[in-house]
Amino acid sequence: MKGTKKHMNIYLIGFMGCGKSAVGRCLESDFGQKLVEMDEAIEKQNGMSVAEIFQKQGEEAFRKMETEFLKELRFQKNLVVSCGGGVPMREYNVCEMRAGGKIVLLTASPQTVYQRVYKTRNRPLLEGRMSVQGIEELMEVRRERYEKAADIQITTDNKKPMEIAAEIMRKLK
Ligand code: S3P
Repeated sequence: MKGTKKHMNIYLIGFMGCGKSAVGRCLESDFGQKLVEMDEAIEKQNGMSVAEIFQKQGEEAFRKMETEFLKELRFQKNLVVSCGGGVPMREYNVCEMRAGGKIVLLTASPQTVYQRVYKTRNRPLLEGRMSVQGIEELMEVRRERYEKAADIQITTDNKKPMEIAAEIMRKLK
């Protein structure tokens, strides 16, 4: 199936572990959008993992890299951008995404997120917060900005990435 109507970009936002990467891969394989993994791209540009960037240069430096990276995408089309979970927290980033296409918020319950991330060690913001309660607290802090940024919102609990990708394309038509 072909991609979006006006060749717009799709920006997947949402909390860590909400399925942005998995859904992004499906939007690429089944709907012809070109996948951009923000964290991976920033890691490549800097020759360091996100965790190392946080450790050596601090979170603020990482946030600036995210913004600079988003600006680089401004004139590209037909992308699906799997954004780091902190991206919509900056208003500037939201304007940048709005100018480039549609913003899709993926959500999941704190329990689902915990099940998806508890074995991973590459997310500095979950260090010391790796519990359902810790996840829920940070989710609450972010909820309002996430919801305000989104053009559409989709829950991912108990759904397969492929179903979610199809739901996104239906809703964006
Ligand atoms: C972050 C989410 C991570 C990564 C970094 C910070 C956040 O990306 O960008 O660890 O602030 O929520 P994912 O959402 O892809 O895990």
